[in-house]
Amino acid sequence: MNLPGGGGGPAARAAAGPPVRPHALEAGRNGAATPGYRHPGAADTLGGHDRPSRDGGVARWEPLRMSVTPVLDLRGIDKSFGSVKVLHDVAFSAYPGEVTALVGDNGAGKTTLVKCIGGIHPFDSGEYRFDGAPARVGSPRDAAALGIEIVHQDLALCENLDIVQNLFLGRERRRGLMLDEAGMEELARGTLAGLSVRTIGSVRQRISTLSGGQRQTVAIARAVLWDSKVVILDEPAAALGVVQTQQVLELVRRLADKGLAVVLISHNMNDVFAVSDRIAALYLGRMAAQVRTSDVTHRQIVELITAGVSGDLGLRR
Ligand SMILES: Nc1ncnc2c1ncn2[C@@H]1O[C@H](COP(=O)(O)OP(=O)(O)OP(=O)(O)O)[C@@H](O)[C@H]1O
Ligand SMILES: [Mg+2]
Repeated sequence: MNLPGGGGGPAARAAAGPPVRPHALEAGRNGAATPGYRHPGAADTLGGHDRPSRDGGVARWEPLRMSVTPVLDLRGIDKSFGSVKVLHDVAFSAYPGEVTALVGDNGAGKTTLVKCIGGIHPFDSGEYRFDGAPARVGSPRDAAALGIEIVHQDLALCENLDIVQNLFLGRERRRGLMLDEAGMEELARGTLAGLSVRTIGSVRQRISTLSGGQRQTVAIARAVLWDSKVVILDEPAAALGVVQTQQVLELVRRLADKGLAVVLISHNMNDVFAVSDRIAALYLGRMAAQVRTSDVTHRQIVELITAGVSGDLGLRR
């Protein structure tokens, strides 16, 4: 399937001539590829996408922009649960208009880091900056007020409620004493349409009647409904089939192309390489590297995940 702006994807780049992003031609090494998914290569988005240019008739790819201020910027984050130290001096940044993949083995600390970002777990020490300024995030409400929304690993939708009720849960709109049902319905429809979601028939459907992919879509719509700047998705495709995964990945890319900073946690390297602009690899609670996706291969990322080091990249021993 093609995406808006899909003409600049890896396949197109391969056809345009060298140099080609290293992963574009690699077969999957870690999990099945999602067939038909192509990185949109959105040339106009912020933050260092490549773009085509001509130099003496030879197609070249140049970085669009080298430095963009991260909207989310954490440094030196330490977090322990009791006597167990889970995060050690972690630095992590997310940039507007980009998908940053957060990868790492089971138990590496991805969800813990995300919960620290979201104000669910207080971190022990470290610096939290948002939009270039120091921020204090002591609760999920603080995170939401900054514009950070998280789609958690355990989705947390209410099965017995419909889509509109889930989207506005705890933040219902009112008209006088009454709920503004019509207004919420319209906003729900608008949000889903804005995300080009076409597989959901009615916003009054109960969550229990939706497929896994559709539920994921509702959770993502809930995250973007609130004028978010940062959307974090903790393994959104873990339990999804091929087609549903593809739809969720397209949605992830569209969010970034709207200018949001998207953080995607995933174990599937093909999905990571298909949609991300940067990759942050956690190894046993330490940030082994945060790199541009176009600068690394699958093999390097797998090594960072499994050993914390790959050649010049990674943790020094
Ligand atoms: N509430 C908690 N209390 C104590 N230990 C915890 C708690 N939450 C997480 N941990 C521990 O912190 C470590 C990191 O867990 P975390 O859930 O962040 O890993 P993860 O990278 O998200 O893994 P996965 O890929 O399996 O989701 C694990 O060793 C886990 O047992
Ligand atoms: Mg996790």
